[in-house]
Amino acid sequence: MKNNYEKEIQDLLMEMTIEEKVGQLQQCGPSLVGAFDVSFEELVNMVFDGRISKADFQNIMSSAKHDFHEEDLRAGKIGSYNGLNDAKTANELQKIAVTETRLGIPLLFGYDVIHGYRTVTPIPLAESCAWEPELWERTARIAAEEATAGGVHMTFAPMVDVSRDARWGRVSEGAGEDVLLSSIYGAAKVKGFQGDDLTKEDAMAACVKHFAAYGAAEAGKDYNRVDMSMQRLFEEYLPPFEACVKAGARAIMPAFNDINGIPCSVNHWLLTNLLRNQWGFDGMTISDANAIAECVTHGIAENTADAAKQAIEAGLDMDMTSNAFSETLVKLIAESAVSVEALDKAVANVLRVKFDLGLFDHPYQTSEEREKAAMLKPAYRSLAREAAEKSIVLLKNETLLPLKPGIKLGIAGEQANNRGEMTGAWAIKADGEDCVSLIDACMTQGIDYVYLEENTVIPEDCDVFVAAVGEMKNQSGEAASRASIELPADQINLLKKLIETGKPVIALLFNGRPLAIPWVAEHVSAIIEAWHPGVEAGNAILNVLFGKVNPSAKLTTTFPYASGQCPIYYAHMNTGRPGGKSKFTSKYLDTPLVPVYPFGHGLSYTTFAYSELQLSEGQEGVTASVKVRNTGDREGTEIVQCYIRDIVAKRIRPVKQLVDFSKIPLQAGEEREVVFYVPYHKMGYYDMNMRHVIEEGEFELFVGGNSVDCLSNKFLYKPAIS
Ligand code: GLC
Repeated sequence: MKNNYEKEIQDLLMEMTIEEKVGQLQQCGPSLVGAFDVSFEELVNMVFDGRISKADFQNIMSSAKHDFHEEDLRAGKIGSYNGLNDAKTANELQKIAVTETRLGIPLLFGYDVIHGYRTVTPIPLAESCAWEPELWERTARIAAEEATAGGVHMTFAPMVDVSRDARWGRVSEGAGEDVLLSSIYGAAKVKGFQGDDLTKEDAMAACVKHFAAYGAAEAGKDYNRVDMSMQRLFEEYLPPFEACVKAGARAIMPAFNDINGIPCSVNHWLLTNLLRNQWGFDGMTISDANAIAECVTHGIAENTADAAKQAIEAGLDMDMTSNAFSETLVKLIAESAVSVEALDKAVANVLRVKFDLGLFDHPYQTSEEREKAAMLKPAYRSLAREAAEKSIVLLKNETLLPLKPGIKLGIAGEQANNRGEMTGAWAIKADGEDCVSLIDACMTQGIDYVYLEENTVIPEDCDVFVAAVGEMKNQSGEAASRASIELPADQINLLKKLIETGKPVIALLFNGRPLAIPWVAEHVSAIIEAWHPGVEAGNAILNVLFGKVNPSAKLTTTFPYASGQCPIYYAHMNTGRPGGKSKFTSKYLDTPLVPVYPFGHGLSYTTFAYSELQLSEGQEGVTASVKVRNTGDREGTEIVQCYIRDIVAKRIRPVKQLVDFSKIPLQAGEEREVVFYVPYHKMGYYDMNMRHVIEEGEFELFVGGNSVDCLSNKFLYKPAIS
């Protein structure tokens, strides 16, 4: 694969007019026209606030047409489209670009393929609980195979925003609260989307988002300000993006938010000093939707022209649908308010990615035949089921699970019988009817069950009740922050009603974020965290409930006791008064000191015992070995976690930080030695002068099956005498 197109890029730039250059920086979102007499924005608000039903909305949309602004395309004013998702339209538009524009520069089609295209896999937060990079890469690969068949060249994923505040709805789209996991998750997704040769027709460019620290939006409120020390930014929020750049991601999307007062879309330090000059990124940057124009609203730009000038000079290459570039850049260049050099840099980055994707040689990368053959293959469905089975977390199990064959289930709760709800947020190409609900699975697998419609009399002959509770998929994802993440009263009342029967009750959670479920944790016999599990939801859940699959997933996000505990996370600082019995310690008067379920928690149908943790310090790193035994009567897979603590440093350090993990299958009775090698540089931090240092002195190393119950040993780190 050729990987240097600089001559071709410079030759093209020499030929292009200013207007054509600006055109390459315009990503057009097909606007909907006709069929309704309000703006599309208002129509969406009307369905969200209930003024029209979802059915009415669908009917209106079905008669709406898309305006692809073909005349602008012919005039060379459009370089890319967003939200276009069918091969026929893609090829029609590509034909115009390639054969009817002066220079025939091919289009780039971007789309949000966050967790599958037609074969919807578990939401990222769910899949992250598998702690399995190979799985993350495999599901990204099938997403690319389907999406590219549908005409997509670039996905606006992976989202690697570390998030520690469950009130934020977009925690559903990432890999949870941990820096290392988010880094490994992101790199695996980049490799899966892009494959080993970007010019291949089933490869799509990864556009990593949202750069950066969007997950730290103040108070978990979407789009809110972000303000933190540079030390924290570099230690907790930037590493996943650097990992994705190192993995070869070809695009980056700056976040809506500011960092310490400068919105990311116009943040020269972020987009040029750090991303280009320090990290050596040579792909393209593309704004979030409308984000350039919104810099006026932020109060950092006087008007759209000022926003466009700031953005392109900061290092933002393409404008996603705000039209700020297309409406103002030609004039700004003519007035020398923006240099041709800045414009050429941005265009070169966009052209480079189009060359990387092979679009100049093969502008038509799909066909309607390929598209038809590519979707929902049986192999894709079975991978989606495997991913769901590996993402389902067994949070609580007194003795009830796995269920014995032949028992009668009483199933309640809307999500148990709602296929569309299984896709979760951002499954924009999905057809909910592709999903298998729990009720569907019970029917096809011949389970003896009864579905309890609302207010039906609870039958006496059920052996076990399964109550689907949690949140609907539109309660997580973008613009879905929630001030209260407790279960609603009607769901608690349903659980109470079922518990009053005296029969065991399983709470089956469908949700896109951690929820505050202390009452549930105390009163039900078992809790299965299913998240939004995708097309094979029902089959995966049944396989776990009846023990065909032994759950192995572990939480990558802390489950708080109450909304008021947010943000809450395991890698916290000790403080001078760590929460304790004494009054004058760091705690809330009205909640326990700890969360309901900690980071790394997840049960199995077997049990594991840890012993003989031994450490040995080497020149470059410390080696830890531990024995893990399966002490139960069936096979199981354990996710062994390794944490570190720097006990004394020149800045205070977290009480634990994940530095490695290992997922190991063990037969009943089998014992295995697990060895971790922790390079000393993983123990470093940024001092007050932003130097990355590793503190000489005492460290503690922990190993366990979650972030609380660990074996630990201390060791001394002394830098090698250079
Ligand atoms: C949205 C999201 C971003 C998405 C983009 C395109 O506003 O913030 O994650 O990729 O618009 O749909």
